[in-house]
Amino acid sequence: RSYDCGVTVSTSDIDKAVGVLRAGGLVAIPTETVYGLGANAEDPAAVARIFRAKGRPPSHPLIVHIAGAELLDDWVQDVPATARLLAEHFWPGPLTLVLRRGRRVPLEATGGLETVAVRVPDHPVALELLSTFGGGVTAPSANRFGSVSPTTADHVRAELGDAVDFVLDGGSCTVGVESTIVDATADVPTILRPGGVTRESLEALLGGPLTAPSTSRVRVPGQHPSHYAPRARVVLVEPEKVVAEAERAQEAGHQAGVLAPAPVADAQVKAHAVVAVPASMTAYAHGLYGFLRELDQQGCDLIVASLPAEGGLGLAIANRLRRAAGPRHTI
Ligand code: TXA
Ligand code: MG
Repeated sequence: RSYDCGVTVSTSDIDKAVGVLRAGGLVAIPTETVYGLGANAEDPAAVARIFRAKGRPPSHPLIVHIAGAELLDDWVQDVPATARLLAEHFWPGPLTLVLRRGRRVPLEATGGLETVAVRVPDHPVALELLSTFGGGVTAPSANRFGSVSPTTADHVRAELGDAVDFVLDGGSCTVGVESTIVDATADVPTILRPGGVTRESLEALLGGPLTAPSTSRVRVPGQHPSHYAPRARVVLVEPEKVVAEAERAQEAGHQAGVLAPAPVADAQVKAHAVVAVPASMTAYAHGLYGFLRELDQQGCDLIVASLPAEGGLGLAIANRLRRAAGPRHTI
């Protein structure tokens, strides 16, 4: 079957993916944000396999993916009116709502929390899989713990190899950064992670300012300072200092990569590799993780980057770059 996005997936691929989920296996699923590593949300043993495959601590909660907003009450309880409004307006789409856990969701999927994160992905292949499967698919991004999220099926294969039973190839993810996570348990929601749905569009719908995400402390498990990180160390500098910093790094013996807007990247910068980031934030978000992977592949051991302005999708991009530059974790 062909989809509007130009992707062709056969019915037998969907059936195969459903078979793997029913048998307790792991399927990589395409979404509009990044690829997810999916398992049957109601199968604790399958959920446990996700953590092993990713090398992720089991205390880190996962997102349950469902086929439509009308199914929300099957998975959560006590949905405030604001959460209902957000679900109806933004789903399918890159918005994840944290709500009170319904009985169907095992504690293995929530890292022991009494809340659960839920979303309806806006990708025709994911939606077809979810409706054919008929249950919830719990899925973190399909990368090794702490590293760059995959936005193509090839990225998934390179990251996880045999740890995933089947990769459903739905092409390249359009949005390119993860969903916006909103704690919607209270009447005034809080953004826990900026992402594909902008803060501005949430505030426009709700008619008031939202609580800002805290960058200063670990709010929930899975929000460590270092995340989304390429192999190369990432250093963030002001745009006007990118050229000098890259040259300094080269002279100090590094293989320096540069990730900066076109005017900076096009200058005669002495670096091992240069990626000029698009001026459009939509295009930048779409390409971000691929750019980081590319600089790794070119052999860079250090990436000098500047942050975009933090409006619209720029907020999510800046958040991921800050985390990529954060102190690396030791598990
Ligand atoms: O776009 C996305 O959100 C992708 C695609 C595959 O849907 N998924 C994704 O999952 O980014 P993951 O596991 O890499 O990040 C989900 C984050 C967790 O790290 C955690 O911080 C937060 O969601 N989360 C999950 N359940 C939560 C809960 N009950 N309370 C607070 N935060 C939660
Ligand atoms: Mg992730």
